[in-house]
Amino acid sequence: MGKIFVCNHPLIKHKITLLRNENTGTKDFRNITKEIAMLMGYEAFRELPLVLEPVKTPICETMAPVIEGKKIAVVPILRAGLGMVDGILSLVPAAKVGHIGLYRDEETRQPHGYYCKLPENIDERTAFILDPMLATGGSAVEAVSLVKQKGCTSIKFLCMIAAPEGVKTLSEAHPDIDIYIGNLDEKLNENAYIVPGLGDAGDRIFGTK
Ligand code: PRP
Ligand code: URA
Repeated sequence: MGKIFVCNHPLIKHKITLLRNENTGTKDFRNITKEIAMLMGYEAFRELPLVLEPVKTPICETMAPVIEGKKIAVVPILRAGLGMVDGILSLVPAAKVGHIGLYRDEETRQPHGYYCKLPENIDERTAFILDPMLATGGSAVEAVSLVKQKGCTSIKFLCMIAAPEGVKTLSEAHPDIDIYIGNLDEKLNENAYIVPGLGDAGDRIFGTK
């Protein structure tokens, strides 16, 4: 059974508020998204198990902790998830990066896949799937399914803002994954946008509107 973790770090809360502000421009939005991803990465990596390995320092031999077993794959959902990649890679620079391209049909709200390229041995890795927004949950459910189809059994989903509806849909469809949330917002509006949210994350990161 996976867990649902709502981050309570004050820096995460503060920075999400900066993103919500409609006057925050593209450059700041992009930088702050990266900073939040890094802070959320700290929370998510806290869980990784450690084992002791021998190491020879200039002074002596000792046993010192390293992350056990599984290596990491970072998988942003295009486009907006791209904004979180550098923040995570600043913590685990050797991680492999896969990409899943999905867009949400504005009428039906259903996700449409247009790209999927994942590290070959993702079945041997813990996958960190990144998307700033978990709204209806359709995109996240699809992305997790694609990663599972490649044999990956250790999956963590990181989002900056989630609606309760999306958390329910994702956790019911994939009860075995861990979900990390920067802030749990109030609800979805009639257009399936998160309230109060921050608008369209992809457009704000890339300045396309
Ligand atoms: C946004 C967001 C998520 C999705 C969330 O992407 O980045 O991927 O919507 O909505 P859902 O939970 O209802 O599926 P969008 O489809 O706008 O694509 P974009 O990142 O390319 O703008
Ligand atoms: N996608 C976004 O970018 N924002 C929302 O509020 C919902 C879906």
